[in-house]
Amino acid sequence: MPLVTTRQLLDEAAKGGYGVGAFNVNDMEQIQAIMEAAKETNSPVIIQASRGARQFAQDNYLYHLMLAAAELYPQIPLAMHLDHGNSFETCESAIKLGFTSVMMDGSLKADGKTPATFEENVEVTKKVVDYAHERGISVEGEIGVLGGIEDGHGAGGSGLDHVTDPDQAVEFAERTGVDSLAIAIGTSHGAYKFTKKPDGSVLKMDLLIAIHKRLPSTHLVMHGSSSVPKDLQDIINQYGGKLKETWGVPVEEIQLGIKNGVRKVNVDTDNRLAITGAIRKVFVETPEKFDPRDYLKPARAAMQKVVAQRMTQFGQAGHASDYTAISIADMAKGYADGTLVTKPLVAAK
Ligand code: G3H
Ligand code: 13P
Ligand code: ZN
Repeated sequence: MPLVTTRQLLDEAAKGGYGVGAFNVNDMEQIQAIMEAAKETNSPVIIQASRGARQFAQDNYLYHLMLAAAELYPQIPLAMHLDHGNSFETCESAIKLGFTSVMMDGSLKADGKTPATFEENVEVTKKVVDYAHERGISVEGEIGVLGGIEDGHGAGGSGLDHVTDPDQAVEFAERTGVDSLAIAIGTSHGAYKFTKKPDGSVLKMDLLIAIHKRLPSTHLVMHGSSSVPKDLQDIINQYGGKLKETWGVPVEEIQLGIKNGVRKVNVDTDNRLAITGAIRKVFVETPEKFDPRDYLKPARAAMQKVVAQRMTQFGQAGHASDYTAISIADMAKGYADGTLVTKPLVAAK
């Protein structure tokens, strides 16, 4: 299948009542792990690259690896998404390269650190929406600010510092026409999200449900959705790592989110943990080895296992053959003639 848009994947997920994992990549092995997991579980999938990933891998490498994935797995609906675009220019360059969807994270200013005002966020996001939709490309916006900091991106602080206000979410969705909306409900990027198994005092699932009630047709996005499983932490520490005790977002909470409008679930950290654990194990158990394939193969397999598990847990497994690709040109037509609705349904309080 050619690369498809995130909007199509999420519309289909809404029809089927499931969520779609969006997995971050920086290199070929991570793309391979995701595609093998998608094949194994017959799942549609979103592969996403952050600004850091684009810098690390270089745009052309990333793009051509994604084309190779689409070519090698013609049965898998696959979207290529920009994660946490910090400015109009970053989104524009991703679209020019061939990404089929972009996130304009206007919750922060272009420095990727300072929380932006609501008006600044609306303005830059709407500018990206206008540019992207004219070209058939989907846009994710963010309202509220996630906790933590990842590769220089993030406001720092707790996930509870800037949770999403439902009224602002409604106004933001109406004024920008985004295809999907990331909300802040107490999660953070990275491994250190919670100091104990999270309850409603730190992970605001009630807020998510309230936002979904007001915006029942809007595809919600959960960032910072790694579960940081104890077994993956243990492997790293068993083989010389020094992770401090930590908790992520329990899968059952994500599943509750999916029942309440979450269609895109962002996962990066769990895969990082799986890869690092597998590599450490090889280094410690067989220190005589030096062929990168000896540790990259188990690393890739460990990531595939996590991704396949998440695909099953999010419900996307089994749905790869439900539909055929809508071309980017037809998506552009749909936005232009109004058949692709961008005005959200809004329910009274
Ligand atoms: O947004 C966070 C993702 O985990 C990407 O992280 O910016 O370190 O590539 P990164
Ligand atoms: P995690 O750090 O929880 O994997 O979150 C990833 C993410 O939200 C990418 O945008
Ligand atoms: Zn994120």
